[in-house]
Amino acid sequence: MSLLEISDYRLAFDGFDGTAAVLDGIDLAVEAGDTLGIVGETGCGKSVLARSLLQLNPVPPARVVSGRILFEGQDLLRLPEAGMRRLRGRRIAMIFQDPASYLNPLLAIGTQLVDVIRGQDSAAGGVVRPRRAARALAAELLAAVGLAEPERLLDSHPHQLSGGMRQRVLIAMALAGEPRLLVADEPTTALDVTVQAQVLALISRLVADRGLTLILISHDLGVIAQSCARVAVMYAGTVVEEAPTAELLARPLHPYAQGLLAAVPDLDRPEHRPSGIPGSIPNLLRPPGGCRFHPRCPRATAECAATKPLLRELAPAHRVACHHAAP
Ligand SMILES: Nc1ncnc2c1ncn2[C@@H]1O[C@H](COP(=O)(O)OP(=O)(O)OP(=O)(O)O)[C@@H](O)[C@H]1O
Ligand SMILES: [Mg+2]
Repeated sequence: MSLLEISDYRLAFDGFDGTAAVLDGIDLAVEAGDTLGIVGETGCGKSVLARSLLQLNPVPPARVVSGRILFEGQDLLRLPEAGMRRLRGRRIAMIFQDPASYLNPLLAIGTQLVDVIRGQDSAAGGVVRPRRAARALAAELLAAVGLAEPERLLDSHPHQLSGGMRQRVLIAMALAGEPRLLVADEPTTALDVTVQAQVLALISRLVADRGLTLILISHDLGVIAQSCARVAVMYAGTVVEEAPTAELLARPLHPYAQGLLAAVPDLDRPEHRPSGIPGSIPNLLRPPGGCRFHPRCPRATAECAATKPLLRELAPAHRVACHHAAP
């Protein structure tokens, strides 16, 4: 059994101007110990999918249309809120893009970490450790994420920290509940490039040392190539291709994945300008029928407008949803 198994997951957002079919039949499995990257253009549903794993999309407007999200054999879509609370942070933890907005500017880092640690204890239904013990663990966690002088840091406020340090604090918080699955949604997008590389290296080291399973979301294929063994490419609410990262980079089979790769500047060949993908993602209030990529696709035929292609395994562990998949 996979650690996480998402099948035929459809999520819609109901609004005044209609229903947006934001996730359109997601199929994705993650094994324990996997490092899976999810890549795709802005608005393709990466964050909505990530938030689905913790049931953090507001209901309404969010509405589950179909599917299952099995985590450790339990269907998260049918788990009552009390069950979900026991899971959040303790089995599945999440790191978000903007570290500043997830820290309370008025409270010392130590206070916030201690609250998270004791909150996890209480959600677990066991003994809530005393503040002093929680503070000792908080200092340990800060050291584990590579922050110097953790004792002093505990008494600092968020504004006294750099963006990179704040993201490290949030990673420490995510580790507090000893989760099995870490979901990182654009964890480095708000950071300078050099700090970005350090934080990515930290995440990779923690994943390896603690035996975590990682889902890393980014619009940047380079970030994913650095940190993930496998990658899923999303387009307008569907997974269009999924493969070992090296394989996808060397031999993408979906025209969208090929376009995405062509859009990455090649530093060794600066004279080659990235070509990009003409057009933009569809309005999900009125998504195109058949393959959602067909209006932008150079290989589209009548079949593509008529029938939605399913993910098929075309090479070992390499799945593609395209009627005309080809290198
Ligand atoms: N609470 C909400 N209510 C209505 N629509 C929403 C809500 N949250 C997300 N959406 C819609 O869902 C779609 C997917 O958004 P999502 O944030 O998942 O994209 P993304 O792939 O994470 O993009 P980015 O790379 O910019 O972070 C968008 O069209 C967005 O407008
Ligand atoms: Mg997002």
